[in-house]
Amino acid sequence: MKKLKVMSIFGTRPEAIKMAPLVKELENTEGIESILCVTAQHREMLDMVLNLFELAPDYDLDIMEHGQSISDINVKVLKGMEGVLKEAKPDVVLVHGDTSTTFVGALAAFYQKIPVGHVEAGLRSGNIYSPYPEEMNRKLTTNLAEIHFAPTKGNYDNLIKENIDSGKIFITGNTVIDALLQVVKEEYVFDNPILNEIDYENKKVIVMTCHRRENWGEPMENIFKAVAEVKEKHDDVEIVFPVHMNPNIRKLAQNILGNIEGVHLIEPLDYEPFANLLNKAYFILTDSGGIQEEAPALGKPILVLRDETERPEAVKAGTVKILGVEKDVIIKEVEELLTNHKAYGKMSNAVNPYGDGKACKRIVDALRYHFKLIDKKPEIFTI
Ligand code: UD1
Ligand code: UDP
Repeated sequence: MKKLKVMSIFGTRPEAIKMAPLVKELENTEGIESILCVTAQHREMLDMVLNLFELAPDYDLDIMEHGQSISDINVKVLKGMEGVLKEAKPDVVLVHGDTSTTFVGALAAFYQKIPVGHVEAGLRSGNIYSPYPEEMNRKLTTNLAEIHFAPTKGNYDNLIKENIDSGKIFITGNTVIDALLQVVKEEYVFDNPILNEIDYENKKVIVMTCHRRENWGEPMENIFKAVAEVKEKHDDVEIVFPVHMNPNIRKLAQNILGNIEGVHLIEPLDYEPFANLLNKAYFILTDSGGIQEEAPALGKPILVLRDETERPEAVKAGTVKILGVEKDVIIKEVEELLTNHKAYGKMSNAVNPYGDGKACKRIVDALRYHFKLIDKKPEIFTI
């Protein structure tokens, strides 16, 4: 019998982390031929994940340029994918989440009349400029997709509100939990000496990341200044900040946080050390999407450096608090979590609203069901 040709397309670090276990699952499933195409919208940060999960792409568009605009990315992905899709002729294309690679990968497949499966579908903040451009990328990808893999019931409900056919939505859990469970180990030892020397028992270690486009400029300056002030007032705090490779972010971080004792500006970490660093942290300060899903699973409080979130589940569960980007508010909330043990205790309960480690299996089964390779509909993910 002819195999179902499934092409996975991704290009940035978070997509790679969340698609890697799915590509492995596709490779190990009978009746499926798995093809991997990376756009390399990110280069080094993507390659780190490909190496960790031992993935060898069949196609690599290698598009990254320093200082690339959204249009630069989109034009290159659209043109590059045209040739790849014409040559490989997949039966279905899988894209993930909300990046430029996601939306334009789906658009390129639509132009070739190839059905699209959207992994991590149905997340919505309700504001098309926050996160920007991700919220619009999600909505556009929803319209281009034929099959929707929604991590949670809330994501499913968002798609139903947009009149998506319920028979084409599968609630699967988020594949990030599949990835996380593969790499976090209690007795983990880092390669990076700075990370091994930190006293995680006696210091309050805050792990921070910050990269969102809507935070570029003044909001990011506010964030970094708030972190500097907090650190100067609290001797028992250490801050570890693996800085995103965007040169503008690196320059600002270096200017404001570069010479403060106890603030460690380090290179982006491989996923395995980063996930284990999250596991050793006191709490997390971030504007990242993926980290809002990982930290609750590890029982770590998260303060989110954004005005709204498309991931309300962990806010409801009490492990995530949305701070916004005003300097004084950030200082007040960070100090509250550092000093109020009761508040800290309430936020550090391990909850797992995003997945149970079986999302990839459900997605592959849903694909096989949709394309009539099997008769049984997969069980849905419930908390
Ligand atoms: C992109 C996604 C964003 C996602 C983020 C994850 C879009 C529009 N944005 O944002 O949704 O949350 O990835 O990190 O799709 N760079 C390197 N090496 C790398 C990666 C980046 O040098 O491995 C530098 C380059 O100068 C590049 C810049 O960072 O031009 C920005 O990368 P880009 O993909 O355009 O935007 P991100 O902010 O990373
Ligand atoms: N991450 C990583 N190394 C780092 C920082 C983050 O591996 O130095 C991982 C993190 O665990 C999460 C993902 O990268 O799985 C989040 O990526 P990012 O914050 O770049 O993007 P977003 O999730 O905001 O789209």
